[in-house]
Amino acid sequence: MLTNATSEHGRQLPSDPELAEIFVSGRKHLDELLRHAPTRKEVLARFDKYALDLWAGLHGVYDVAETWLKVVELIAQACLDRPAHLADRDRSRISQPDWFQSPEALGYVAYADQFAGTLQGVASHLDYLGELGVTYLHLMPLLQPRAGENDGGYAVADFRAVREDLGTIDDLAKLADALHQSDISLTLDLVLNHVADQHEWALKARNGEPHYRDYFLMFAEHSIPDAYEKNLPEVFPDFAPGNFTWDETAHCWVWTTFNSWQWDLNWANPDVFYEFINIFSFLANKGVDCFRLDALAFLWKREDTSCQNQPEVHFITQALRAAMRIIAPAVIFQAEAIVAPTELVAYLGVGEHAGKVSDLAYHNSLMVQVWSALASGDAQLMAQALHRSESIPSTTSWVTYLRCHDDIGWAIDDFDAAQVGLNANDYRNYLSSFYSGDLQGSQARGAHFQSHPSTGDRRTSGSAASLAGIQAALENGDESLLVLAIDRLMCGYSMVVGYGGLPLIYMGDEIGLLNDPSYLENPDHANDNRWLHRPKMNWEFAGQRHDPTTLPGRIFPRILELIQARKRLPALHASITCNVVVMPNPAVIAFIRRHPEGNLIEFYNVSGTAQTMPTSSISSLTGPNATVVLNSAALSLASPTITFEPYAVWWLTAEL
Ligand code: GLC
Repeated sequence: MLTNATSEHGRQLPSDPELAEIFVSGRKHLDELLRHAPTRKEVLARFDKYALDLWAGLHGVYDVAETWLKVVELIAQACLDRPAHLADRDRSRISQPDWFQSPEALGYVAYADQFAGTLQGVASHLDYLGELGVTYLHLMPLLQPRAGENDGGYAVADFRAVREDLGTIDDLAKLADALHQSDISLTLDLVLNHVADQHEWALKARNGEPHYRDYFLMFAEHSIPDAYEKNLPEVFPDFAPGNFTWDETAHCWVWTTFNSWQWDLNWANPDVFYEFINIFSFLANKGVDCFRLDALAFLWKREDTSCQNQPEVHFITQALRAAMRIIAPAVIFQAEAIVAPTELVAYLGVGEHAGKVSDLAYHNSLMVQVWSALASGDAQLMAQALHRSESIPSTTSWVTYLRCHDDIGWAIDDFDAAQVGLNANDYRNYLSSFYSGDLQGSQARGAHFQSHPSTGDRRTSGSAASLAGIQAALENGDESLLVLAIDRLMCGYSMVVGYGGLPLIYMGDEIGLLNDPSYLENPDHANDNRWLHRPKMNWEFAGQRHDPTTLPGRIFPRILELIQARKRLPALHASITCNVVVMPNPAVIAFIRRHPEGNLIEFYNVSGTAQTMPTSSISSLTGPNATVVLNSAALSLASPTITFEPYAVWWLTAEL
C-alpha cells in the first residue's frame, strides 16, 4: 500500500521498505535500458510522473514485486521501438492534452470495407471526412479475425496482422500517417476480454500446453461453471446461450461469454497482461492514437457476481493506461462498457482511479435516453437519468452517439423509472416494441435483437434513419411524415452533438442510410441482425448531398450546420458539465453549459407536436440578451409565449 513517504522524485513511495526498494530499482533499470535512446530523458520524466499509477494498478491485481521489473522492461522495449515521427506526435499531444475534449473534435465510425473497400480506399476519402469536419476516425475491427463467423471482427486470430482483404500492417501505418497529415486521429478496437478460438494462444492451450492453458479459463468439470452460471447474464441468448463451451480436443469447458468461438482470457495471469502491453505498443507504434477497449467490463471474474464491472477491471485499466502514458503519450483509451447507468462513470475513473483509467467512455445512457424521449415525447426520464453522469474527471470526456454498430439495449434504471412514475419493465418493453415498429402509430422500422426468455428483455437493431421513421415515410410516400422523421433524426443528433463530449457520427447517418437487409444473404452474418445497420457506404447517394431535392441533400447540410455551430462554441468543451433541466412543459428539455467565455443554453422539443410555453421560462435560463446560434427561426424573447415546433432545436448563447 502507498503512504505519505516521499520519493526522490516528489511522489509517494510504497511504505514497505522491500517494496520501496523494488519500486526504485524499476527506475534504475529503465534508465539503464534506455541509456542510448534519444527519448531517454522524456521517458524518464514520464515514468516519474506515472510510475505510482502503474504500481498501484499492478498492486491491485498482481504480485507487484514479481511483475514490476518485467513490466518496466516491456515499457523500455516499446519506447526503444517508438518511431521518431510518433515521438514528435507525443510531444505535440503533451502540449495539447485536451485535444479530444475540444469542441473542434468530431468522430466518425466506419467499417473500412463498407466505407471504402480497403485501407488504401479509406485514404482516398479523406476529403469527404474533411468536409464533415472529422478529427477522429474509428475504423471498426480490422485485425486478422478467425475464418468463418467472427462477430464483425471481434474474434481476433492475430493482433499483429491486418485482415488480408483490407491490406497489410504497413498499409495501416501509411493510413495513420495520411490521417495525421489531415489532422485526423485513428482509433482501433482492441479486444481485451477474449480471442478467437483460432488465435495461436487458443490453439496451444487446446493442444495442452500448460503455459497457454493458463491464458484461459478452462474447467474439467462442469461444477465450477455451474456455480458461476447462476449469476451470469447471457449476452447472446439467441445464438450463443450460456457462458461456457465444451472443447472436445482440450477436453474441458472453456469460458466463452460471447460466442462459443470467442475464448475469454484469464486476466488474473500476469502473462496475459504482459502480452497486451506488447500488443498495445506494437499498434501504437504503427500510429494508432486511441484504443477502443472492447468488452472491458467483462475482464474480471468473481464467483457470486455477474462478473462485470469488478474492481480489478479498473486496476488493470489503470496499469495499462499508465504504461501507455509512459510509452506513447499521444495515445488515449476509449472504454467500451455498455453497462448500467450506475456503473458507467467508473470507466472514466472515480475515487482512487479518477483520471487514471480511460479518457473516453461511451455515454450509453444518453443514447438510450435520446431514443426513449423521442419515442415517448416526454423528457422527464431523460433529465432524471442524466443527473447520474454529470460529474466526471475534468480531463476525460464522454463519447456521445446516436447509433453504433451494436444493438440498442434498453438500459433504463428501475429507480429512475419509478421516480417519474414508470414501471421500468413495462417501459423497456414499450421501447423495444416501439422501435421494432410493432406499436400502432410508431414510424420506426427496427428489429428485435436477442429476446431474453426469462427477463423478457429485447434489444433493438436498425439504422438511425430507419428508427427515426424515414424508411416508413419513404415507403408510404408521405412527405409530411418524412419532414417529421428528418426533424426527429436531427433532434436526436443535435442532442448528441450538443450534450458535450466527443460526438460520433455513425457512417451513413449523415446521408440517411436505411436498414440494409442484404446481410441475410451472407451465411456468416445471417443470424445476427446487427448487420441490418452495418450497410455499405452508398457513394452515389453521398454524391447527392448538396442537392436539396434529395434525401441526402435534406440531411447532410443540417448535420454540417450542427457540426459547424459546435466547433465555434467554447462552452462545448468536454471539461464543462452539462446540466439537464426539464421545462414546465415536459416535452421540452434544456441542456445548460456554463463557460467563462459565455453560457450555452440548448432547448429541444422531443415531441412530434408544437409546444407553447411562457417566454419567461426561457429567459429565466438565458437572461434577456440571448443570441440564437443554431436554428433558422428567429426567436423573440419579447412576446409573452414562445412556441417550439415539433422536434425544434434551439441553441442560444447568453452573457454571463
Ligand atoms: C463489443 C462489440 C460487439 C461485440 C462484443 C464482443 O460489445 O461492440 O460488437 O459483439 O464486444 O466482442
